[in-house]
Amino acid sequence: MSTVMTAAPAWTIPGFLEARDNNHLFVSGVDALALSDKYGSPLFVFSEPRIRANIARLQAAAKQVDRPIKFCYASKANSNMSVLKVVRAAGIDIEVNSGGELYKALRAGFRPDQIIFNGTSKTDAELDEAVRAGIYSINVDSIYEIGLVEDAVRRARAELNSGLPPARIALRLVPEIGTRSHLGLQTALLTSKFGISSSEVLDAFRRGLQHPDLIHVCGIHIHVGSQTPDVEPFAEAFKSMWNHLMVIHRETGLVLEHINLGGGIPVNYLRDRSQADELPEHERDMLGADLEPSVVLTEALRVARESARDAEAEHLLAGVTILLEPGRSIISDAGVVLTTVRNIKRRPETNDVWLLTDAGYNILLSMNNYKWYYHLISASRAAEPSAAKYKVAGPLCDSGDVYFDIERQGRLPDYRRLPLDVTPGEVLALLNSGAYSLAQMFHYNGRPLPAAVMVREGGAADLIRRRDTYEDLLVNDVW
Ligand SMILES: Cc1ncc(COP(=O)(O)O)c(C=O)c1O
Repeated sequence: MSTVMTAAPAWTIPGFLEARDNNHLFVSGVDALALSDKYGSPLFVFSEPRIRANIARLQAAAKQVDRPIKFCYASKANSNMSVLKVVRAAGIDIEVNSGGELYKALRAGFRPDQIIFNGTSKTDAELDEAVRAGIYSINVDSIYEIGLVEDAVRRARAELNSGLPPARIALRLVPEIGTRSHLGLQTALLTSKFGISSSEVLDAFRRGLQHPDLIHVCGIHIHVGSQTPDVEPFAEAFKSMWNHLMVIHRETGLVLEHINLGGGIPVNYLRDRSQADELPEHERDMLGADLEPSVVLTEALRVARESARDAEAEHLLAGVTILLEPGRSIISDAGVVLTTVRNIKRRPETNDVWLLTDAGYNILLSMNNYKWYYHLISASRAAEPSAAKYKVAGPLCDSGDVYFDIERQGRLPDYRRLPLDVTPGEVLALLNSGAYSLAQMFHYNGRPLPAAVMVREGGAADLIRRRDTYEDLLVNDVW
């Protein structure tokens, strides 16, 4: 017989993620087990009210500063069409990273002036698409790429025989700012592949101004990285862009319209810290970060204002729009993965009990490549204490498909804690798994990809991605 706790579990988010009286996990009022029964396992479950609440939190932060703020959802975090539609309906804009994401953004109904396009290796075809759509900004990653955009404008004008306006571009900088996130998620280091070095910025802007009939340089951009737990790197990045903006104005007369501070607002993956106590402190600090977007914006503007005052350039700041590209902070905690225990074994030699689930790293790639922590609970017995320790692993034929750090670098706990006596058939839930998951799935081991559902306000649940069939595994093979 199960023991039901009276206090709500630490991972609870009232109204969104709860253990209800029948001991099941509920997502925005809907029984997760009923969804798993209906749509099969594994299953992604998203909550529209939670996505909207996350966006509302950003919009409230924007109201606390006196500059216009434009939020561009980083669609790489999750570009499912229904997710994009919810984001658009909530009233924010979008960031894309490829021709494919640009196509999806347009198909989801975003206007071209709501779209910005990042990327290190854009193809001519992708630039053609961006230029012809007339998007808000192509974020150029090198001096060389400026010429590629100009060529795309020339091509478009010749082929369309039209008076296409100049393409709007922003230049992406790499200012050497470290963060306390995983190295693979840091993007403002000189060792990273992104952006234009500070020593080349002025040349880059001068180059950008050579053909004003073809391109209009409207902004400057930095992204310090994902899951950035502290405010300082954001403030430093903003100050760096601001200082460049002032020098560029002094040297060239150019008045930039926007400063883009990128994404990286962190998500608290450790609402329940009970399973993470064995992780190193820095890992816990990073995963458990709770940084308010309003703090990021206020602090960034404070440092910019200081240097504007010193340089008597406050009039420049007055005309600037600030862009942010949040991904994780909008979609991560709005999604969970439900997975079923399919097999169990004991290892008498190590005294371990192994649970083998149907969710592998082919649907949660970060668990393998960044050893990313997703809190695991029982969705079948959500209110029960996690009194037993298990080794947990996915279904792939790869010894790296495990829920612990097989390389023994301590980035994931060795054991996961779940209720006593978990047996095959029990449904588990990996929390906070809405970002960089669905968008990175692949068919390794011939595994059809899972379905995804979206719970709406009021409790309806809509299928937003159908489960693959075996036929889908063959679709692109030519044979
Ligand atoms: C350029 C750029 N902008 C925005 C983001 C989104 O970051 P996050 O999901 O951490 O908000 C990323 C992801 O790393 C990125 O590379």
